[in-house]
Amino acid sequence: RNAQTPYYFTEKQNAEAIIKPREKFSHKGTFGHALLIAGSFGKMGAAVLSGKACLRSGAGLLTMHFPACGYDIMQISIPEAMAVPDKNEKYISELPDLESYSAVGIGPGLSKDAATVKVLEQLLDSVKVPLIIDADALNILSENRFLLDKLPENTILTPHPKEFQRLAGESKNEYERLETGRQFAVKHKVVICLKGANTAVILSNGEVHFNSTGNAGMATGGTGDVLTGIITSLLAQKYAPADAAVLGVYEHGLAGDRAAVKKGQSALIASDVVDCLGW
Ligand code: APR
Ligand code: MG
Repeated sequence: RNAQTPYYFTEKQNAEAIIKPREKFSHKGTFGHALLIAGSFGKMGAAVLSGKACLRSGAGLLTMHFPACGYDIMQISIPEAMAVPDKNEKYISELPDLESYSAVGIGPGLSKDAATVKVLEQLLDSVKVPLIIDADALNILSENRFLLDKLPENTILTPHPKEFQRLAGESKNEYERLETGRQFAVKHKVVICLKGANTAVILSNGEVHFNSTGNAGMATGGTGDVLTGIITSLLAQKYAPADAAVLGVYEHGLAGDRAAVKKGQSALIASDVVDCLGW
């Protein structure tokens, strides 16, 4: 931490200070029940990756909500998760009952169908537990800007640079993008993970926490979906949103670094990051 600026750098000791020990007499209820709303026809892999990452990050229970075409895929790929298919075959068209869940993640592999826009609006209007929004769910926000006023406080947004540009406008350089991100986070009272090398986690108080882990091997489709699953899991386990974002981004990069040692950066794929999770 530098006292003169809002900038921090997340290293091993900072991540370890956030981690809560797993108590001996705990049970699956202790670690929360995560809900992931994800997938569309042709993008069920994103849903699967986020779900696996969620379970590998310590959540007690996971329910997946996805379009009906993904039913067999989901049950076979993630036997540990409960599968709640949408009535629509190809995209999300209905909001599941939210009562049982301790955190909600939405976005990986989603589409932007009009029915899905409605689902996101209903979710923002009714959700009472911590929320993370990624991928096409972010693009829906960008294209339906009245939804920005409905974002619950400390919702976590995980845009890559293009998604962030759609959300907050063009930036001339990295510094300007960071400042735009800080203004957006403070204005809308949200947490933004500006993804890339050294992902910047911007808190709703304007603090910026740069991540120290990760490598260029992670520049491959699906690694973002893995991050969404990790952070959803931490939120379900009752980590405060700021902690869930900082720790989740750190652990995601750490798993990527382990995967790069095993496989080399070029061969690394998102599933390898899931396989290397754990602390
Ligand atoms: N160094 C470290 N980490 C990196 C690097 C790098 N050079 N490049 C990428 N990463 C990490 C990012 O920090 C982020 O966590 O990999 C992840 C990539 O996430 P996304 O860009 O969201 O990619 P992903 O979601 O896997 O892509 C699949 O979904 O969001 C859509 O538009 C996206 O079409 C894309 C699809
Ligand atoms: Mg993505």
